[in-house]
Amino acid sequence: PLVALVLAGGTGTRLYPASRSDRPKQFLPLGGDQSLLSATVSRADFADHVVVSTRPEFADDIADHAPDAEVVVEPAAKDTGPALVYATHRIAELYDDPVVVVLPSDHHVGDGFSEAMARGARVAAETDSLVAFGVEPTRPDTGYGYIEPGAFHGDYAALATFHEKPDADTAERYVEQGYLWNAGMFAWTPDALLAAARDSPLAPLVDGLDAGAVEAGFDAVEPLSIDYAVMERAEDAAVVPVEFEWDDVGAWDALARVLDADEDGNVALGDDPIVVDAADNVVATDGANVSLVGVSDLAVVAWDDRVLVVPKDEAQRVREVVSQLQDDG
Ligand code: GDD
Ligand code: MG
Repeated sequence: PLVALVLAGGTGTRLYPASRSDRPKQFLPLGGDQSLLSATVSRADFADHVVVSTRPEFADDIADHAPDAEVVVEPAAKDTGPALVYATHRIAELYDDPVVVVLPSDHHVGDGFSEAMARGARVAAETDSLVAFGVEPTRPDTGYGYIEPGAFHGDYAALATFHEKPDADTAERYVEQGYLWNAGMFAWTPDALLAAARDSPLAPLVDGLDAGAVEAGFDAVEPLSIDYAVMERAEDAAVVPVEFEWDDVGAWDALARVLDADEDGNVALGDDPIVVDAADNVVATDGANVSLVGVSDLAVVAWDDRVLVVPKDEAQRVREVVSQLQDDG
């Protein structure tokens, strides 16, 4: 069967202060009337089964957003590398001969999504390789992974190289050279993923799973995303280019792309701000009355008793605020 594996264990630090450690982004309705997680599960209806993967802190919250999904809770929060190896291993135990399609829960997608996922799953089943989905880049975004496509075979290309979150100059070069954005969605058979993971920093985890010592395996690895752990070193991977509208709403600047703007290019999540000579800003609040005068290209967020102001093009850096808060206890 086709199994959609929805990732819902992130902390969403770049969406601080709306996203907090006990209320991460996937549980918030950011620009829709459903939470990001519910929306992701609803569009996974192309699959025969839906499995939601999360870390222990959020295990009890999943049922509110995905009542019918199977939930797999990894024993420790070690980022998406260990989470995906563990969940894929569980899926191989739960279902006969599955093909897994991985869906992050922080995306906005347009028409054509289901067909593209089915196409990727078919390539994964036919080639037994790791399949990434590639989006045509529209800017040198440093928040994404970049894929260099190799030779094309009909629906897909060999994946020549994969580069996770490059610096700005490198991202610019990749866009010029025709690289694709990694959409963060993947398709694979359990055999393909587990073989690649055995040949990666996640090997101790796979050994742990093989030996029935899951917790010891998790203890033995550092936190690492699947992109760094597996995709950057994958020998046998493919990329399926996709055409549907796509955005990752993991940072505040993304709201400018997914919400409707006023005539000056300002977008609002929550109440409309008072605007005097201000253009191209993102305002997000859970009730505060915000005014903007003479400013442009900012994200201004007022949530709970906290306020964040950041230039839109530095929105990725909001994670630095959260690290400081964590350091301060
Ligand atoms: N189960 C589980 N456990 N899920 C997790 C964990 C974890 O420890 N950490 C993060 N996630 C989930 C998040 O909730 C999100 O749905 C998904 O994994 C991806 O995490 P992000 O933190 O949003 O990743 P990213 O956006 O920085 O980067 C990834 O996605 C980009 C496209 O959206 C990478 O794959 C990039 O290469 C890609 O371009
Ligand atoms: Mg993301």
